[in-house]
Amino acid sequence: MCYSLLKKIVFQLNPETAHGVTLRGLRLMHQLGLTRFFPKIKAAPREIMGLIFPNPIGLAAGLDKNGEYIDALAALGFGFIEVGTVTPKPQDGNPRPRLFRLLEQEALINRLGFNNKGCDALVENLKRTKYKGILGINIGKNKTTPLENAIEDYLTAYRAVVPYASYITVNISSPNTEGLRDLQHGELLRSLLCTLKQEQAQFMATQKKHVPLVVKIAPDLTESELQNIAEILLAEKVDGVIATNTTLSRVGVENSPYAKEAGGLSGKPLFEGSTQIVKQLKVLLQNRIPIIAVGGISTGQDANEKLAAGASLLQVYTGLIYQGPALIKHMASVIPAQE
Ligand SMILES: Cc1cc2nc3c(=O)[nH]c(=O)nc-3n(C[C@H](O)[C@H](O)[C@H](O)COP(=O)(O)O)c2cc1C
Repeated sequence: MCYSLLKKIVFQLNPETAHGVTLRGLRLMHQLGLTRFFPKIKAAPREIMGLIFPNPIGLAAGLDKNGEYIDALAALGFGFIEVGTVTPKPQDGNPRPRLFRLLEQEALINRLGFNNKGCDALVENLKRTKYKGILGINIGKNKTTPLENAIEDYLTAYRAVVPYASYITVNISSPNTEGLRDLQHGELLRSLLCTLKQEQAQFMATQKKHVPLVVKIAPDLTESELQNIAEILLAEKVDGVIATNTTLSRVGVENSPYAKEAGGLSGKPLFEGSTQIVKQLKVLLQNRIPIIAVGGISTGQDANEKLAAGASLLQVYTGLIYQGPALIKHMASVIPAQE
């Protein structure tokens, strides 16, 4: 069935139900062996952070929070998959409705609030997966954990999932957990990263496996805030940065009936602001830390703009919902091979 027809049907459902139905459908197709008929994605290997990515197009965090659909999602041809955000303990997230489709703008607003089954459940799912490709695991803190104890939550999550990860993403940029974005600044950021880098070294020493540590930042940062963040990322020798998470801005969606819903905006209206952050980071990080760009990519041209802005790798979420899996093949066909 072509995606435009599937979209017509599932878009009749509320967005969160549609999400579950589509993913369960994809998993069933995979279990029945049908995903082997999916188009193959052109190989365009890139070595970034010491890992070899078969192509630069990844699945962004949040779509498969509990690692329940990894094998089926891998069949779509992603060069890498990021699961999570996972928190140490399971939590329900915010009350529904908490996900809204802004059809005209090809955007979403979500305030899910890290609904996830917790680290133990994720680990059980990871043990079952057959996927051997690059797997990012995105970690966060529980809602009930006060900010002053946030580091303990990140450490607990890190220790639980690191044996299964190709890289770990420290999510300090979701707008739906009160205070989380404060971790992007000053001493809070410095001590969080310092602790996790020590843990990374410890894991390397005992397990002989380097697991890159990546930080995911928000698009809603002033120039001086971004400059401070970049200084800390360089000082702490972080391995990568993901730019960006969803935005609190409503520029470009003012006319939508959902514009006033609380939460993070993703998709096309995020593209420009998020790309600006990539451009600024490229200068601030002096090519010493690779950038993974995410935010509003919905065409091959968008993908190339992000790469031109300074990204080494890309991720998609909302574009996939609106364009379907053909987006991955299209992006792969227009991205030039790495020099
Ligand atoms: C419904 C939804 C849930 C998300 N959940 C997470 C999450 O748990 N952790 C995270 O780091 N980012 C999460 N994100 C942000 C995406 O990973 C991505 O950074 C953002 O949506 C911008 O990319 P896009 O415009 O391609 O969607 C979520 C996004 C959406 C739309």
